[in-house]
Amino acid sequence: MGQVAVIGATGRVGRSTVEALRAAGREVTEVARSTGVDVVTGAGLDEALHGVSVVIDVTNTPATDPATAVEFFATATGNLLEAEVRAGVRHHVLLSIVGLDRAKGTGHYDGKRRQEQLVEAGQVPWTIQRTTQFFDFAEMVVGWTTRDGVATVAPLLLQPVAIADVAAALVDAAAGPPQGRAVDLAGPETLDLVDMARRTLTARRDPTRLRASWRDGPFSLEMAGEGLLPGPGAQLGVTTFDDWLAQQTPE
Ligand SMILES: NC(=O)c1ccc[n+]([C@@H]2O[C@H](COP(=O)([O-])OP(=O)(O)OC[C@H]3O[C@@H](n4cnc5c(N)ncnc54)[C@H](OP(=O)(O)O)[C@@H]3O)[C@@H](O)[C@H]2O)c1
Repeated sequence: MGQVAVIGATGRVGRSTVEALRAAGREVTEVARSTGVDVVTGAGLDEALHGVSVVIDVTNTPATDPATAVEFFATATGNLLEAEVRAGVRHHVLLSIVGLDRAKGTGHYDGKRRQEQLVEAGQVPWTIQRTTQFFDFAEMVVGWTTRDGVATVAPLLLQPVAIADVAAALVDAAAGPPQGRAVDLAGPETLDLVDMARRTLTARRDPTRLRASWRDGPFSLEMAGEGLLPGPGAQLGVTTFDDWLAQQTPE
């Protein structure tokens, strides 16, 4: 596959992807603001993509309001795709989210939908790998919603996946020809978010209490039922939630 650039290389998925690429003997260019490249301003991008044949985009923004999230993903993806055309990149691999079309009403999802549209309409042959939420998603939600020792968690039905399994799928996608929409990637079992949160807090010996509710949180009712579950025939990661929990230590 030649030289691979990981955009967002210092992030959670990015670090794991860089490690998996290097373990597979690939040459990797790490792109992030902390390595001197900003995909929003475009600073340093042409230099970073010199000699690169495959790009894996796992950037992210903490923005939750729709306008800011859409602007981030639209500007970053537009700059990236233009620089890839100039550099002669042959394959753009994007990490996205299962259920993106069904679950409306969150800024992050609005931004990711715009990002997918730009990739699909772009000139660089592409693969979009959608995955379900990661195993630490419950912990992230607890972090966002805890007030006075009580976290509000919606009883979402999920089929979460390990970041290491996501990284492995991205490396496989990058090694093959552009696929367009790849088969969804999910974890091996369906879980509910309140149960995941309770088990994670127990593993961390964290005394935060849980309140199960669809109110006062970042989720829309369109995410209820089977809205976030993968489509039929999904590719399944090998790591179970229990495997992942066993690796967690009290913080
Ligand atoms: N969380 C989930 O359950 C889930 C599920 C499915 C898909 N996803 C997708 O996974 C992707 C990666 O998430 P993550 O949790 O790994 O993200 P993360 O840990 O927040 O990492 C984001 C990366 O993007 C880089 N970045 C941000 N702004 C940049 C800029 N202007 N220029 C260059 N680099 C920039 C960051 O580095 P610097 O700060 O140094 O720039 C960092 O390397 C996201 O697109 C998300 O939608 C997440």
